[in-house]
Amino acid sequence: MPDHETHDFDVVIIGAGGAGLRAAIETKERGLRTALVCKSLLGKAHTVMAEGGAAAAMGNVWPDDNWQVHFRDTMRGGKLLSNWRMAQLHAQESPERIYELERWGALFDRTSDGRILQRDFGGHRYARLAHVGDRTGLEMIRTLQQQAVALGVEVFMECKVLRLLKDADGRASAAVGYWRPSGDFVTFNAKAFVIATGGIGKSWLFTTNSWECTGDGDAIAAWAGADMLDMEFVQFHPTCMVWPMTARGILVTEGVRGDGGALRNAEGRRFMFDYIPPMFASETAATEEEADRWYDDHTNNRRPPDLLPRDEVARSINSEVKAGRGSPHGGVFLDIATRRSPEYIRRRLPSMYHQFKELAGLDITTDPMEVAPFQHYMMGGIWVEADTGATTVPGLFAAGEAAAGMHGANRLGGNSLSDLLVFGRRAGMAASDFAGGRLGTPTVEEAEVDQICKAALEPFGRDSGESPYNVHRDLQETMQQLVGLIRSETELVRALDALDKLDERTKKVSVTGTPAYNPGWNLATDLPAMLTVSRLVTRAAIERRESRGGQTRDDYPKPDLELGKVNLIQRLRPDGTYELEQVPLPPMPAELAALLEEEPK
Ligand code: FUM
Repeated sequence: MPDHETHDFDVVIIGAGGAGLRAAIETKERGLRTALVCKSLLGKAHTVMAEGGAAAAMGNVWPDDNWQVHFRDTMRGGKLLSNWRMAQLHAQESPERIYELERWGALFDRTSDGRILQRDFGGHRYARLAHVGDRTGLEMIRTLQQQAVALGVEVFMECKVLRLLKDADGRASAAVGYWRPSGDFVTFNAKAFVIATGGIGKSWLFTTNSWECTGDGDAIAAWAGADMLDMEFVQFHPTCMVWPMTARGILVTEGVRGDGGALRNAEGRRFMFDYIPPMFASETAATEEEADRWYDDHTNNRRPPDLLPRDEVARSINSEVKAGRGSPHGGVFLDIATRRSPEYIRRRLPSMYHQFKELAGLDITTDPMEVAPFQHYMMGGIWVEADTGATTVPGLFAAGEAAAGMHGANRLGGNSLSDLLVFGRRAGMAASDFAGGRLGTPTVEEAEVDQICKAALEPFGRDSGESPYNVHRDLQETMQQLVGLIRSETELVRALDALDKLDERTKKVSVTGTPAYNPGWNLATDLPAMLTVSRLVTRAAIERRESRGGQTRDDYPKPDLELGKVNLIQRLRPDGTYELEQVPLPPMPAELAALLEEEPK
């Protein structure tokens, strides 16, 4: 058995993207001994893939913007399934979190009179995304990282957490994992934990997510007994590079459309005008002229249909491709070249310009891009209490993409960067309070720790097993083909069956070599999490017999009135299976409900 070290902290934060970093800053500032544990290197989190900006109703560009309009947009974008309290806190607190980042050194783009500039994004009534060109996530990560390190947060990099253990009273008490470079095991004992591990995209073939996004946080929370919310809602970002193959999946920021880019089909037609849903009809432009006026004069309150929420745009692209009007490589065209000057494009979208030029040999100032929807974000995840990020496991908190509720059935672009600031901070506050009030040293059963380490090493003991890479490839094919953008009962049931078989195969995978620097073994230890999460997604997708946001059912193409009143919760039973329950939405205060009825100016 490899070496095993142990660390003791007040709070352990798992995941060092924006939410984890913001939580760590909070706990450290409150004087708690804080560990930040991440699977990758510090600064390499998927947060950088939110490029276009952080949504916050600062009213810098359009003075009529305020938290009430942002709240309304978020609730409507989430198809009214968002947790109203989270949407309210998010809309109210995002501006201050942006100013805080600025105080910590983030250099946002500016208006001509020096205020933070804000750009348009889908589903937002006003231009409200604070941004740094098209590299906003990167600037945020750099700023938060610098602040965390300056405060003295202890960072443990390249550490994969396998399991979370509870004490005899059911409180989260230890995280057991291993160092990727050595394969040695490590236990972090702590009084409180925050899961901020981000997304689950690596279960799909085409995803914007980076290699870390294997749903570890969702899985360890579910295995520890935490309630899992609305796992069916998976976001497919409408515009990702489809060509060349080597660059397939790279995100094309929504900022391209926010800055004037238009979607066109193979006939050159702006097809989005054909797909305006009734819910957004009154605030969506019906003609190209009207749409183009939006960028100069938001007072007409008629956004271009290219800026409908992501679920609508992704479905429309899919329909065009299916109807035979797609681009040569299975997407549609995104054209900014004919709509904005080369100078404007290079200044506003420097990463997009360079990524197409260098990876595809395409100049986006002269030619259209080929784009299609790829998996991007998980709206579902760990159920949390809105104000605190507390999960149903005492001592366990969650924030960012791993936590659910804020975005309902569909997230508006730009809301994730502000979400992770608002709720990362709140989870940090609540975890600090919990740890501060917890007496004694957290203890867990040593035998349980040993069992986890032994199980992790089992793939080395099998000489005739299958490669984890084969299982992973088949898992990605299954999720891509059967649990993708458009779903049906027949396919989802087939997926569940396939996932059961993949689970059996996972139990028999074998790897060679030693645990040190062994990507095959690392993948073998990721597979159980990916399978757990994939099954939670598939089961919830079967149960929600309607189309809403990130769940589109071919066999139930419309929203269902009754299902629009419930969230789906899944939780582990003692026999290792999961129960699934429909839970009524928390009642919304009348003054907030009234905001949803109003047409903003
Ligand atoms: O399109 C983008 O820049 C992505 C942003 C987001 O997911 O919020």
